[in-house]
Amino acid sequence: MIKAPPWGRNMAVRTKLVAGNWKMNGLRADGSALARALTERWTAARSERPGCQPLLCPPSTLLAMVRDILAGSGIALGGQDCHPAPKGAFTGDVSPEMLADAGCSHVILGHSERRHGHGETDAEVREKVTGAWRAGLVAVVCVGETLAQRRAESANTVVAAQITGSIPDGATAANLVVAYEPVWAIGSGLTATLEDIAAMHADIRSRVAAGTRILYGGSVNPQNAAGILGLAEVDGALVGGASLDADSFWSIARCCP
Ligand code: PGA
Repeated sequence: MIKAPPWGRNMAVRTKLVAGNWKMNGLRADGSALARALTERWTAARSERPGCQPLLCPPSTLLAMVRDILAGSGIALGGQDCHPAPKGAFTGDVSPEMLADAGCSHVILGHSERRHGHGETDAEVREKVTGAWRAGLVAVVCVGETLAQRRAESANTVVAAQITGSIPDGATAANLVVAYEPVWAIGSGLTATLEDIAAMHADIRSRVAAGTRILYGGSVNPQNAAGILGLAEVDGALVGGASLDADSFWSIARCCP
C-alpha cells in the first residue's frame, strides 16, 4: 500500500519549495555549519521568512547529523537518490525506507547526474519512485533535455517522454514534485530564458496531476532567482552549487514572492 506522505497534503496553494542539492559535497564540519546557519536564519526572523518551504538534500553520510540540526525548525530533509528495494544485498545502495528512517520526507530521483553519469533509464527511475512512495517519501523527479536536444527543437518531446517513462501511475500533488533541469544549465552558469522556462513548465503542468509542484533547476543563483521564482508557473528551485553557501541559498529562498 502506498502511504500518504506527511507532506503537502493541503496543496490548494503551491507554496514554493526551494531545495538545496548538496551533491557529493560536505564533511561533517561544513555540513553542520551550513545546516546550522540556515536553521538560525529560518528560526530567527519569523517576520522576514521567505514565502517558501526549504528542503536540504545532503549526502547520505550527513543525513542523521543534519536531521538533528534541523529538528523542529520546519526545514525539510531529503535524500539524493535511492534503490527501489526496501532492503537486501545491494552493496553501497540506500533504500527509501532507510531515508525515511533517517528523517527524510523527500528524495531526488532521476537527476541528470544519475541519468547521464550512471546510465539510469526512465524505467529505473520509475521503479525508484514506486519505492519512494512505498516508504512514504515525496519523489522529486528530475527531467531535462541536453543542449543537442534543445538545438534540435526536441526539448519538449524529450521531457514529455521522461515524464511518461519515469513517473508511475498514482502520482499526485502530494507525492510528486517535478524538477525541470535542462542538462546544459546544470553547474554551467547558463540558465534557460524565462520564456523557455515558463513554456516548458506549462507543458509539464499539462502532463501531471493538478497542483503538482514544478521546480526549475540549473545554475539558479541569487542574481537570477527573483526572475525565475517570480514566474507563476515555477513552484520553486532545485539549487546545486549555490546551496553550499548559506548566504546564497538564503538569498535565493528570499526571492520567493
Ligand atoms: P546547479 O545544480 O545549481 O549547480 O546548476 C542544480 C542541480 O543539479 O540540481
